[in-house]
Amino acid sequence: MATFTPTLASFSLVGKTAVITGGARGLGLAMSKALALSGANLAIVDLNKDEAAKQAKTISSIFQQKHPNQQVPKVTAHYADVSSKSDVDTSISEVLAEHAKITNLITCAGFCENRDAISFPSHRVKRMLGVNVEGTYYYATGIAKHMIDQQIAGNMVFIGSISGSIVNVPQRQALYNASKAAVRHLAASLAVEWASHGIRVNCLSPGYMLTKIAMQENPGLKAEWESKIPLKKMGAPEELMGTVAFLSSDASAYITGQEIRVDGGYTVC
Ligand SMILES: NC(=O)c1ccc[n+]([C@@H]2O[C@H](COP(=O)([O-])OP(=O)(O)OC[C@H]3O[C@@H](n4cnc5c(N)ncnc54)[C@H](O)[C@@H]3O)[C@@H](O)[C@H]2O)c1
Repeated sequence: MATFTPTLASFSLVGKTAVITGGARGLGLAMSKALALSGANLAIVDLNKDEAAKQAKTISSIFQQKHPNQQVPKVTAHYADVSSKSDVDTSISEVLAEHAKITNLITCAGFCENRDAISFPSHRVKRMLGVNVEGTYYYATGIAKHMIDQQIAGNMVFIGSISGSIVNVPQRQALYNASKAAVRHLAASLAVEWASHGIRVNCLSPGYMLTKIAMQENPGLKAEWESKIPLKKMGAPEELMGTVAFLSSDASAYITGQEIRVDGGYTVC
């Protein structure tokens, strides 16, 4: 017999349709699972559409296994380079052709590059700001337009980073830090601008998370980071699932313009 695990109904995402950028891999993939397993229909938008399509199938079958007699959320995969406004607009139209409405957005596509500021090539400067900042902006504004036109009281969660509030050491990543500060303040600013439309916007800022990419880029730093984290370990991607589901749900109905840091206590020291 299935275990009875009561929880507040306001935590459920049944009836919602979420778009997640960068949802095919890493932290975005864990968040994609959190949204669909909470009942939301989902559109995964990623540079790597093949991986997004593969993960969409996997997520649907995980849901089916967990809830054999329930309606399986519709999970679709789409291509966009989020730094391209025309890609973003095309992908939003594609999502709307398959899902009819969008109630939630999670912007997770982004990347970090560790280099000293003086030697950072200008084409990489443009790329980083293009993906991390413009990508968030294009997606948020494109989807807010849809929400306002359709009178949808929508919800957005931008994935920032603790690097948007503190300066990480020893790695040199000034532009990444600045890009994530921009993401955090964009969330606060758009939350105020769109509050009268019922659209909430918050920023989820992960700390040091244990992903393959983070470890490839910073080999050897795990022990040093962990020694400085009060919970004494780097975060697992799955440890973001509850926070993204909470912020995307009506359980957080009176929270907007805020940043929640999921960092094992790192930034309070
Ligand atoms: N990994 C960490 O420790 C950490 C910590 C704090 C914040 N973050 C943030 O979390 C987010 C995800 O990080 P991750 O470590 O899971 O990265 P990742 O590289 O593992 O995954 C990123 C995903 O985004 C997609 N993507 C990248 N650029 C894109 C673009 N231009 N258009 C569309 N899709 C694109 C990739 O294809 C990939 O599927 C990033 O915004 C990152 O800055 C990560």
